[in-house]
Amino acid sequence: MSVHSPQTRITTRRLQEMRASRTPIACLTAYDAGFAAVLDAAGVDVVLVGDSLGMVVQGLETTVPVTLEHMIYHTSLAARGTRRALLMADMPFMSYASPEQALANAARLMQEGGAQMVKLEGDGAQEAVVASLSRHGIPVCAHLGLRPQYIHKLGGYRVQGRDSHAAERMIHDAVALQNAGADLLLLECVPALLAAEIRGMVDIPVIGIGAGVECDGQILVLQDVLGMTARPPRFTKDFLAEAGSIRGAVEAYVSAVRERRFPGPEHGFSA
Ligand code: KIV
Repeated sequence: MSVHSPQTRITTRRLQEMRASRTPIACLTAYDAGFAAVLDAAGVDVVLVGDSLGMVVQGLETTVPVTLEHMIYHTSLAARGTRRALLMADMPFMSYASPEQALANAARLMQEGGAQMVKLEGDGAQEAVVASLSRHGIPVCAHLGLRPQYIHKLGGYRVQGRDSHAAERMIHDAVALQNAGADLLLLECVPALLAAEIRGMVDIPVIGIGAGVECDGQILVLQDVLGMTARPPRFTKDFLAEAGSIRGAVEAYVSAVRERRFPGPEHGFSA
């Protein structure tokens, strides 16, 4: 038996309770054991091994070249650093094109990587994939709004859901993915009012990045929080500048999320 009681670990059920009690959920990315341990000790609830590692660790231009092997490797490192936080891993580009492929790859992220949840950049078209993962006991976070794996199709990193047709589609997709079995929704670069509306339409926790303060939780890329990004996106904040230490910066981020001081209106988008 593990010396670390599974009861101390944040679970999907605990995230659901946090939503119900309106306790904001603090999430951050990490890609190795050392940073994951700092996040875990600072009270981060969900550590995401994001495919953003392609850009912030590997120095790539987009997340598209990130492979399943990269994700498994970095997830297994981050798993060694977490005790309390729920560990979520991104399914990389083209690793979930069919329910069968998604099942095989998500199983590897969990068994070899140690992930407790997988995230995929979905829309209504991923309903069957989410339903199949969920049926097999694999917790899923559905990532809507700006989906960086679609960058070559989108032609740029832009706010999503600004026109009424796109907004209605996103609401429809959010409900469909929840009904298919998603445990968590992540909204990236979505007008704050639309994110609040989506939150009102679903029962699962909604985590935002550039999606306003009304979400059930917030997520950022660690490198942005630590002021390492040359041209940081508007929705991020450098917490290291004031805190003076990495641990202090992560603690300041967690407190700001818990107390709904972050994000401020200046970090969000209007319709
Ligand atoms: O890959 C990533 O880091 C993400 C962001 C939402 C944090 O998906």
